[in-house]
Amino acid sequence: MTSGLQAKAVVITAGPTYEDLDPVRFLGNRSSGRMGFAVAQAATDAGARVILVAGPCQQDCPQVSERIDVRSALQMREQVMRHIEGCDIFIGCAAVADYRPAETSDKKIKKDGGDLMLRLVQNPDILAEVAALPKRPFTVGFAAETNDIETHALRKLRHKKLDMIAANQVGEGRGFDCCDNALLLLYPDGRKQPLPTQAKCSLAGRLVDEIAAEYQRIHNPH
Ligand code: CTP
Repeated sequence: MTSGLQAKAVVITAGPTYEDLDPVRFLGNRSSGRMGFAVAQAATDAGARVILVAGPCQQDCPQVSERIDVRSALQMREQVMRHIEGCDIFIGCAAVADYRPAETSDKKIKKDGGDLMLRLVQNPDILAEVAALPKRPFTVGFAAETNDIETHALRKLRHKKLDMIAANQVGEGRGFDCCDNALLLLYPDGRKQPLPTQAKCSLAGRLVDEIAAEYQRIHNPH
């Protein structure tokens, strides 16, 4: 454990988002929130003041300064933007739904014998919005990929103009909803650092060490 984030203000998103179709149905994803919650705990252990903005998940609450529970991507964005001013580091661990239903019915949708067409509209990209702020925090993203991890993650790092991206493999029993994980960290100058498979809490500690080191490197180069 390090104290590398002493007195730093850190905002972390975690878990899935649920996009409601009607009062009983939603579009969701398989994120358990485990990794994001472990990162929140590790950042607290490293001395940070952590605000955790969490989608619906069943994890034990980590020790954080504030936990804000949200359901949808729009709610998550609202809470992130409300708390981002003065924040030193933003870590986007959430599996934010890229799309939401164009309409949410306030009554349960009934079947009427035929197929049902759903129109989805794009959600805002919270991570890209934070990275585009005029006084942006040090911004870290995740890239959950089933294939060509490095290529896809590098594209996200550049496209969203991040300071660091943590790429991981998902699918076939890996990534979502399991206890272990491995990460490949990528930086804008081309550096790479693999963090080998380990329990998510220990991996989160390693990730936070790397974030603290890179933050120091950029802000206090000597
Ligand atoms: N993210 C976000 N807001 C979104 C979508 C993603 O903040 N609307 C963040 C996630 O928290 C993560 C990173 O962006 O840190 C990458 O998310 P991912 O779903 O892997 O990538 P996308 O940019 O959504 O691209 P794609 O779904 O096409 O792989």
